[in-house]
Amino acid sequence: MPQQHVAVLGTGKIGEALLSGMIRAGWAPANLLVTARRPERAEELRTRHGVTPVTNAEAAKQADTLILTVKPQDMGALLTELAPHLPADRLIISGAAGIPTTFIEERLPEGTPVVRVMTNTPALVDEAMSVISAGSHATTAHLAHAEEIFGAVGKTLRVPESQQDACTALSGSGPAYFFYLVEAMTDAGILLGLPRDKAHELIVQSAIGAATMLRDSGEHPVKLRENVTSPAGTTINAIRELESHGVRAALIAALEAARDRSRELASGNS
Ligand SMILES: NC(=O)c1ccc[n+]([C@@H]2O[C@H](COP(=O)([O-])OP(=O)(O)OC[C@H]3O[C@@H](n4cnc5c(N)ncnc54)[C@H](OP(=O)(O)O)[C@@H]3O)[C@@H](O)[C@H]2O)c1
Repeated sequence: MPQQHVAVLGTGKIGEALLSGMIRAGWAPANLLVTARRPERAEELRTRHGVTPVTNAEAAKQADTLILTVKPQDMGALLTELAPHLPADRLIISGAAGIPTTFIEERLPEGTPVVRVMTNTPALVDEAMSVISAGSHATTAHLAHAEEIFGAVGKTLRVPESQQDACTALSGSGPAYFFYLVEAMTDAGILLGLPRDKAHELIVQSAIGAATMLRDSGEHPVKLRENVTSPAGTTINAIRELESHGVRAALIAALEAARDRSRELASGNS
């Protein structure tokens, strides 16, 4: 396992999920630095993970790789704080939604390598989908290093930065769509007379089973759905309702809206 110093700056929900995944994957806590805005948060991270809290300026000087996991609106202030202390050979990995690599490059020393990553909340259970793009000074070695780090909490995929907004719509926000479906299907179970906890259990296990089949069977989703859709059966009656209510079109429109919002945020039009 690489024993470079890695710092997570702005260690909130995503930062801590990444940190704990890295430790489980074999990174030595002694080589991991963290920064937080509040001292009590920094101490919590030290106690929980055995990592070393430092200031942002110290992280810039000491770490080989800096992972920025602040909210997009806090990124400008963080970069202003880092810039005077940062040698240009440090790798910057940004996990902030909708912040282009050019935004970061413009605020840091000339030639600083920047990698942009869009992960998602299943990072909390090591099932993240993280989409990785190189800035103008990042090499394939930098991308590989980012993959090694985010690979600790799930899958990674390299894409051109021009596809990041689409990926944000699909996988960044993706878990929310599935939670929304489970919520709606649980309501349907209640309508059909099931107690909420039973309806929830039935739907969650069906979601896990379906997701596992999608991942492991190698079959196309249409084939998997056809296998449950017998002639004149129950499923085809449900599918007819989904089609007549335009659920497929609604999903396409929803993801297009998410992609457009990601573009707006990226252009600073919040
Ligand atoms: N949550 C998601 O679903 C998700 C998914 C994919 C990507 N992301 C991206 O991941 C990033 C983090 O999201 P999150 O949900 O983990 O947010 P979060 O829990 O609010 O974490 C951000 C942390 O950064 C700290 N912070 C802000 N400015 C700082 C500074 N200058 N120095 C040190 N620490 C600072 C904040 O401190 P305070 O606690 O004092 O505010 C907070 O603890 C965002 O950019 C988001 O776009 C999030």
